Amino acid sequence: MQTLHTLAELRAALAGQARTAFVPTMGHLHEGHLALVHEARRRGGPVVASVFVNRLQFLPHEDYDQYPRTLARDAELLAEAGCDLLFAPSEHELYPEPQAYKVQPPAALADLLEGEFRPGFFTGVCTVVMKLFQCVQPAVAVFGQKDYQQLMVVRGMVRQFAMPVDVVGLPTVRASDGLALSSRNGYLGAVERTQAIELPLALQRLATEARDGTRPLAVLEAAAAEVLRTRGWAPDYLTVRRRSDLLPPSDAERAAGEPLVTLGAARLGATRLIDNLEF
Ligand code: PAJ
Repeated sequence: MQTLHTLAELRAALAGQARTAFVPTMGHLHEGHLALVHEARRRGGPVVASVFVNRLQFLPHEDYDQYPRTLARDAELLAEAGCDLLFAPSEHELYPEPQAYKVQPPAALADLLEGEFRPGFFTGVCTVVMKLFQCVQPAVAVFGQKDYQQLMVVRGMVRQFAMPVDVVGLPTVRASDGLALSSRNGYLGAVERTQAIELPLALQRLATEARDGTRPLAVLEAAAAEVLRTRGWAPDYLTVRRRSDLLPPSDAERAAGEPLVTLGAARLGATRLIDNLEF
């Protein structure tokens, strides 16, 4: 596997290559990222992964500076997983001048949930994903459902701009206790790590109660958040939404078996975790 740091090297290496499959990441890779690489591998063409911590998607008070940067280890893992090219540009390489042109996703999707608590997050994500697509020009791009709303926002961008990229979404890879793997799990202390499973458990309970019961969703959601709060979490949201547009389902839709998803984001100590569960 080659590691390339400049756009010129990347373009030279990819010249004449067809059907490239691309896995964009921010690094500190784990088995969840590697599952995306394995899927990309199955697509047949050359596999490109990127590692780039994208400042545009962090708010000023967030963990941009602390975000774990482990490029040497990431390169080893990617090579083992069958990646052909690692694109790891510096910030100056990808943003040589302030990125004044940005991709603005629709508020109806991007200002909810993550977008409500991290304003501008999806503009930062869309802008870098679009730019990385321009660099790599992939035929296929593989994303995780762990970031459920991100996957929907990226799919919408690709559709509305007629980008010639096939977006593939893969199920969340979890630790043996059920915690979704995340580059941010390393921030958790040992006690917090054992507690962290309470987030997926709360989402599971919420899904079961939403499917089986008739109590209003708002009541179930408030109760789920309260349970986490009493266990020391600071929840941003725990909610049941339609899979189609991430808006709340009506009672009639809920009763009629509308495809739903529970999504949650909560802070445990200094670590903010997100997760979701389709049901
Ligand atoms: P990052 O958080 O590094 O995630 C890169 C990709 O890995 C995303 O598609 C994410 O959904 C997927 N992923 C993370 N944890 C996963 C898990 N446990 N199981 C399956 N897939 C998982 O998401 C980003 O980076 C950035 O926003 C990015 C798209 C690279 C733009 O900067």
